[in-house]
Amino acid sequence: MSPQEIPTDIPAAVIVLAAGAGTRMKSRTPKILHPLGGISMVGHALAAAKGLNPAKLAVVVRHERDLVAGHVAGLDAAAQIVDQDEIPGTGRAVQQALDALDAGAEVSGTVVVTYGDVPLLTTELLAELVATHSADNNAVTVLTAVLDDAAGYGRILRDEADGTVLGIREHKDATDAEREIREINSGIYAFNAAVLRKALKNVTTDNNQGEMYLTDVLALARADGGRVAAVSTTDRWQVEGANDRVQLSALGAEHNRRIVEAWMRAGVSIIDPASTWIDSTVQLDEDVTILPGTQLHGKTTVARDAVVGPDSTLTDVQIAAGAEVTRTHGSGAIIGEGAHVGPYTYLRPGTVLGADGKIGAFYETKNVTIGRGSKLSHLGYAGDAEIGEDTNIGCGNITANFDGVNKHRTVIGSGVRTGSNTVFVAPVTVGDGAFTGAGAIVRKDVPAGALSMTVAPQRNAEGWTLANRPGSIPAQAAQNASN
Ligand code: UD1
Ligand code: CA
Repeated sequence: MSPQEIPTDIPAAVIVLAAGAGTRMKSRTPKILHPLGGISMVGHALAAAKGLNPAKLAVVVRHERDLVAGHVAGLDAAAQIVDQDEIPGTGRAVQQALDALDAGAEVSGTVVVTYGDVPLLTTELLAELVATHSADNNAVTVLTAVLDDAAGYGRILRDEADGTVLGIREHKDATDAEREIREINSGIYAFNAAVLRKALKNVTTDNNQGEMYLTDVLALARADGGRVAAVSTTDRWQVEGANDRVQLSALGAEHNRRIVEAWMRAGVSIIDPASTWIDSTVQLDEDVTILPGTQLHGKTTVARDAVVGPDSTLTDVQIAAGAEVTRTHGSGAIIGEGAHVGPYTYLRPGTVLGADGKIGAFYETKNVTIGRGSKLSHLGYAGDAEIGEDTNIGCGNITANFDGVNKHRTVIGSGVRTGSNTVFVAPVTVGDGAFTGAGAIVRKDVPAGALSMTVAPQRNAEGWTLANRPGSIPAQAAQNASN
């Protein structure tokens, strides 16, 4: 390290390695694009890296290059995409990233390397790595963990006498004795940029896998007089990568367990953590209650004293204070304060339910604004509609919004009472304080205060059952009634 390089706790750059093929996922989707807790694996890696506020951020890509690059650009337009060439290995990946980062002005200070497939790694642990690296003026600091089963990992070689980190041996290159070592290389490091740049020039492909090993940098830095050290974590989940779908699922469950626990500590009652799934992007207030079998996704927010569940799946749904959402499948909806939804309700995007309103059992809603205190209690569809305040929509009402080609709006005023099985044939407007009769088919606008009826005269054919269904149970009942 040159004397003018003053170490700080803010890294000059983070390099996220994401060029690998991820063949064990057996997926047409690149491995690091697989989601966990609502965010792709590489999204988690970028979030942890960005938490360090690095001056520069690079992501090394190769496999499914365009898909990965496009996804990364969508997450962080400032991230630099670096293409790895045909020379394989983590050393080559970092070398090309550093070359690209150096292109503007040569990077100096700390360079952090992480992987795109280690989703539970936190900014806090990275910051601890960087802080130790800076405080001890290290050339390289590697993040390690001690595992019961270290098979497959690079092993940390230490001096037997004083424990100094000497280097890393890849599993495939290790002797039987070295394979007994249980301290593993996580693949996450803090490097001094100048040391890294220099050492990479001397990394070869002379090993079992014919790859440029980044791990060789440790011994090279040491040979050059640099301090090489390790930060060991006892939280193995934070260094675990997902190579196949079994590991992805285990990491997903642990990620969720951590989120659910954090919300409980923040004042949310979660009755059954095991059956409650909450994306990292969800926001919950104190005194929210989440009942079993509930999944909260995306930008869902739940305000104080609201109760959600059981058995509800909500994506991008905003729930105001004191609302209750029971056995509901919803997305893109806004639920007002003290409102009730469910059970068995399907909320589609654009549903806005006012305070103290209700969307009840077996209702489907889409693009509908429902005013304060209005109730759609049972069995119906409301789409492309606007409903005023304190209106009661009767059982089985439907907005017939689609004429087969275009969608049309239904506007229903405040203080309206609609009869059971009313059909609103849009476009149509119902004025304030109007009524509709049972079975009304509302094709024309209804003025405020009017009663709208669709009158088909009722005819009773006396004696029909006995004449047409002789000997049947109904006929017997009719016979008894006439005696
Ligand atoms: C690597 C480490 C090993 C460590 C392990 C932790 C080396 C030589 N070995 O082994 O010591 O215990 O990680 O999981 O570094 N990648 C690229 N370009 C490449 C190769 C890999 O970007 O040419 C990326 C991969 O996408 C992945 C990461 O680097 O994110 C690790 O690659 P992987 O092949 O899984 O490394 P391992 O052999 O497991
Ligand atoms: Ca790996």
